[in-house]
Parts: sequence; structure tokens; C-alpha cells
Amino acid sequence: MRLPTFALLITPAVSAITTPQAFASSSDGVYKLSQYFVPVRGSGTPGSNSTWSLSIDDTASGHKQTIKGFGAAVTDATVAVFNALPAAKRTQLLNELMTPAGADFAMMRHTIASSDLSADPSYSYDDNGGQTDTTLTSFNLGDRGNAMATLLAQMKSLQPALTILGSPWSPPAWMKLNRVLQGTTVNNNLDHTYASQFAQYFVQYLKAYQSKGVKIDAITIQNEPLNSNAGFPTVYIFADESGSLIQQNVGPALRSAGLDTAIWAYDHNTDVPSYPQTVLNTAPSYVNTVAWHCYAPSNNWTALTTFHNANPSVAQYMTECWTSAVHTPWYQAADFTMGPLQNWAEGVMAWTLGSDTADGPHLAGSGPCDSCTGLVVVDTGAGTYSYRVDYYMMAQFSRFIPKGAVVLSGSGSYSFSGSSGLESVATINPDGTRTVVIENKFGNAVYVTLGTKSGETWSGLVYANSVVTWVLPPVGA
Ligand SMILES: *[C@@H]1O[C@H](CO)[C@@H](O)[C@H](O)[C@H]1NC(C)=O
Ligand SMILES: *[C@@H]1O[C@H](CO)[C@@H](O)[C@H](O)[C@H]1NC(C)=O
Repeated sequence: MRLPTFALLITPAVSAITTPQAFASSSDGVYKLSQYFVPVRGSGTPGSNSTWSLSIDDTASGHKQTIKGFGAAVTDATVAVFNALPAAKRTQLLNELMTPAGADFAMMRHTIASSDLSADPSYSYDDNGGQTDTTLTSFNLGDRGNAMATLLAQMKSLQPALTILGSPWSPPAWMKLNRVLQGTTVNNNLDHTYASQFAQYFVQYLKAYQSKGVKIDAITIQNEPLNSNAGFPTVYIFADESGSLIQQNVGPALRSAGLDTAIWAYDHNTDVPSYPQTVLNTAPSYVNTVAWHCYAPSNNWTALTTFHNANPSVAQYMTECWTSAVHTPWYQAADFTMGPLQNWAEGVMAWTLGSDTADGPHLAGSGPCDSCTGLVVVDTGAGTYSYRVDYYMMAQFSRFIPKGAVVLSGSGSYSFSGSSGLESVATINPDGTRTVVIENKFGNAVYVTLGTKSGETWSGLVYANSVVTWVLPPVGA
């Protein structure tokens, strides 16, 4: 097996590779972004391995969406556990997350004040003791907001191409009909008396982060607007209400404040595509992007292709899907990255980037996720961290698909009902190399042969229950 030098990998723009490379991460932990059998030109020698055929269109006719990045949610839990690490360990961790030394994440979503993955008590950036604050005089990031902004600034300094999305779980209590952050689903709606304060809250937040060196690229005005839950901060926002808040209030407020932060629609499950469609139709001056989560019953990412076909100029992202040490399978992150990429998503983010060894900290009570495990798990007592299988599965994409890569149309992926099958997605990268990510959900190795429309054939082994990433040289190289 050929051993490419690491320098070639991290400086592709300077010298695109001329020989293929392959890397694997496997459910059994034998491979963790490890070098693996490189594919050979032609149909190769499968021996008695099972075989599988894939094809891609790597010519101009096969070009689909352009990639922005991959990453995860920077929650209060993430910030708290990262800050519990000794300085040298924390530096090492951030370097691995945000550079080609590791996952090379280039897109993060952060929680605007508390989510369910915050320690008690829940809070907003303008609680004001529950009293109305029409002038937002009491707006304050607080300790946790300041720590969040500091971490995001450090991430941005390591990854200058980082795209940051911000999403709130609830407006301040006093802006709501029920006047509480959490505790009841009754009247859990915005009080439109304060629609202009609702908009100014985003302006204040964006300026406060900017003053800490963090440019926020995009917001959604509400995480999961159809999820009214008493157990943690939420607010219910109807589709037409969301569109009108953006068109009449939030959009104009951002513009008059000189902020170019984008506003993405929806931020919820794929089973109600009429919601983002209504937002796009109601707020055409401000919205051209839709954010999706993975929690619909029988979630099927082809909903994004259906949405794309109806809205070909609208960008789409997968902005939240959980990973859990006890509830999700080894291929959870591979599935929720692969599926959206095959269906026009320009980026994918997991929930949550970090947690402690008890899946926290999180709010108390029965609403919050008490089994959401970070891609990174920090043992706060020992001052050490470790990566979950989900980290490696995402990194099999993020490390080899740079920002600016273009997804190629392809065929040959197939999943059987249940947990077996072979799925693939390919990109052509800014330096002309091609990345092919292959997810093998069979318990045996599979010998894959890939045909390209440019006229090449590549073949190689894909380990059992793993994701293998091939990096192929530019066409004709
Ligand atoms: C499967 O393919 C690999 C890579 O070509 C080869 O090393 C191995 O011997 C094959 N296994 C069998 C059982 O033929
Ligand atoms: C998703 O929907 C598509 C199109 O209807 C279908 O071909 C595919 O089998 C579905 N996938 C799953 C996992 O149900």
C-alpha cells in the first residue's frame, strides 16, 4: 500500500495529489481516519470479496451543490466541558476540530442563550428579572454568552473559512404571551406587542458577538418552531407568522443596523416542507435558505430533493441531528451527513459538539435531552477528552470535502430496510481532486468498482461496517 505524505494532504491547493489516497473509520475502532487500501485503476482483483458498482458524473453536467462546510452545535454544554480541560489539552482539541490535523470542521451552529443542553437555570440575553425591557437596556451576554463568544472566536481564528449559524431556543420570557422561558406549553407564543423588540434582540446579539470578534453569518429566528415543550425553553411560531416576523421586523432591523447576516428559514423536521415554503413565499426579500433537522418519523432526506426541484435557487442545510452513546447506531452521523449531501444540502451539523461523560450538562426535568452525547466527550474530572465514533464518521466527510467542493451526481447507492446497504457521495474539489465517500453498512468488506463519466474506472476494498474515503487525482492526472 502506498503511503502518501501528510503534507500533500493538507496543502492540496499548492500541489494536488497525483496518486489516489484512501482513509477509513470503522465501527469496530480498528480504523480512525486511518490510511487504508488505495483504489487501483481498472476493475482490480476482488478475489472472493462481495462486489458493488457505483458511478459518478464528474463532468460539468454532473455538478450539483457547492459545499459550505461540516460541523456541530456549540452548546453551553460544549463550552462548559471544553473550558474544563487543561489549557494544553483544550488547544490540542480545538486544533484537531478546526484544522486538517483532524476533522477540519468549517461550519458551526451555536445556541443563542440557553438550550436544553445548558446547565440550570435556563436564561436569555435579556431576562431583566422577568420584567418588560422595551428598550433592551438590560441586554447582556452574561458569563455563558461571553464564554460562548470567546470559544467561537478561537474556532474562527483556527478556521478562517468558518461559517457560523446562531439559533435561539426561546425569546426572553417577557416577550412571550405566557411570560416564562419554560414550564408550560400554554400560550407559548410570541406577544406581538414586542415584535420590534424581538427583532432588536437579534440586532443586539449580533453586535455583541461582533464586538467579541465573532461575525455571525446566519441566524434562524427560532429553533424547532413547531416544538412547544414545557421542559426547556421553546416558543411556538406558525409558518406565516415566521415569514411575516422576518419580512416585517427581523429583516428590516438587521438591514438598518448595517448587518448582512443571512436569515435561514424553519430549522425543523423534513415532514412539514410547507413551513419553509410559506416562509420563503412570505419573506422573499430576506430568505433564500432552508435549515432542516432529522427527527421526523421515518425521516427521508429525499424531501430535500423534492424541495430543491420546487425551489432550485434555494440553498439547504442539515442543521441538527443528534448522536447518542446509547440510542444511535455507529452509522448515525454517516447517515445524517450522507443523506443530505445526496439531496442538495450544502452543509451538515451534528448535535452536540461536546458533552461530559454523563451526556451533560443539561437542564433538569424530563424535557431536555438527557442522552445526547457529544462528538467529543470530556471527562471533566480527569481533564481528558475522547472522540465518539460519530466524530470519525463526520470527519470522513469534512476532512476530505473542502469548502467550495461541488457535489457530483451519482448512482449505485442502495440501502435495504434495516441497517444494511452501501451509500456513496462524491465531490470535485477546488484543486481538481475528487473525493468519494463510501459508507458500507454490511458486516463484510465490499469490493467497490467506480465508473466515472470522464472515462475512468477505480476499484478498491471497503472495510466492513465502515466509511472509506477515496481521494482521486484530477481527471487525466
Ligand atoms: C478482498 O480484497 C482485498 C483487496 O484487494 C484482498 O487483499 C483480499 O485478499 C480479498 N479477500 C478475499 C477473501 O478474497
Ligand atoms: C426515501 O424515499 C425515496 C423516494 O420515494 C425512496 O426511493 C427511498 O427508498 C426512501 N428511503 C428510505 C430509507 O425510506
